[in-house]
Amino acid sequence: MAANSDEAQSGDGNGDRQFTFRYPSTGSTIGNSIEADPVLSGIYDDTSASLSESVQNYPKQFGRTYHAYRAGSYPFPNDLPECERLQLQYDIVDASLNGHLFFAPLDKPRYILDVATGTGDWAVQMGDLFPQANVVATDLSPIQPVEVPPNVEFYVEDSSEEWEYSHKFDFIHTRLTGGSWSSYERQVLRQAFDNLNPGGWMESQEGDASFSCDDGSLKPGHALYRWGEDLALSSRLIDRPMVFVSGIKDMYASVGFVDIHEKIFKIPCGTWPKDERLKELGRGWQLNVQSGLSGFTFANFYRAFGVKEDAIEVYLVDVRKDVANSKIHAYTAVHVVWGRKPFPGEVSES
Ligand SMILES: C[S@@+](CC[C@H](N)C(=O)[O-])C[C@H]1O[C@@H](n2cnc3c(N)ncnc32)[C@H](O)[C@@H]1O
Repeated sequence: MAANSDEAQSGDGNGDRQFTFRYPSTGSTIGNSIEADPVLSGIYDDTSASLSESVQNYPKQFGRTYHAYRAGSYPFPNDLPECERLQLQYDIVDASLNGHLFFAPLDKPRYILDVATGTGDWAVQMGDLFPQANVVATDLSPIQPVEVPPNVEFYVEDSSEEWEYSHKFDFIHTRLTGGSWSSYERQVLRQAFDNLNPGGWMESQEGDASFSCDDGSLKPGHALYRWGEDLALSSRLIDRPMVFVSGIKDMYASVGFVDIHEKIFKIPCGTWPKDERLKELGRGWQLNVQSGLSGFTFANFYRAFGVKEDAIEVYLVDVRKDVANSKIHAYTAVHVVWGRKPFPGEVSES
């Protein structure tokens, strides 16, 4: 475990954001179809000391850099374009969740853990919101900002390994960590359960890499549909599944959480929705997908299918066209699930 320090490459979470969202929230979109805009005609529109060199000596492949600590375990890049994409993605998810950092009914949490924090925005915002709390955030890459609230600490850590904390937590959180785990249930939820205080909350805010569609406009013949299938298969073959979120609620129950809730938020990909707020979110999500496509695909396809970079870019040409096609009403379903660790004696052993 290595604490982040001045020597870390900064993801600079404070830079100008490309998107601000002007439309009031409409709450969870579960069960509602997003109405398409009829006007669009389908044109493409280290220990607590400093970081050691080894965790910053990023391996290069496909013209990108990847995490050095436990190199090879996570298939997405960690370079500047990826950090910028993560911040864009964070802003859009934040707006889609109507600015909710969490949905669990927290009561003055003292210890908070953010697993696989990325550029660390969530952890920093939680540190600001709960100045009395201590926020710990982990990641394989030291891509977090250096200047953070004094109650926020980042650690370079592989959270798929056994967690060794000196205290229990009151709240543990993950957001968009698909592709990070061989088993979200065993490596994250089970360990979270064991590392929570009784009455503490776990919350998952997770979305699949493949797209959903309610009106049949995303068809099996589309390159985007095929890409979703191929990405799901390749990620399973390399033991880092990227499609798993529909099972999260059941995983909470089998691990032993109680008071389990789920909300599903639909983030449209593209400007196809009629609703102005969703159209704006969709524009941002489309940009997020376009800028992430190569990074999502390279390591997965190369390791699983042996396909090389040039061939992958050729394959992605039609996928990019579909992402830009307003006739395809694709969206990402973000499942927010939260549950509580029971108090002793609260759940009878049967
Ligand atoms: C898509 S990013 C999401 C980051 C952040 N939660 C957010 O919402 O912006 C996934 C992050 O998980 C990290 N990660 C992947 N595998 C991990 C592991 N085994 N332990 C800790 N972090 C991991 C990656 O380095 C990456 O920063």
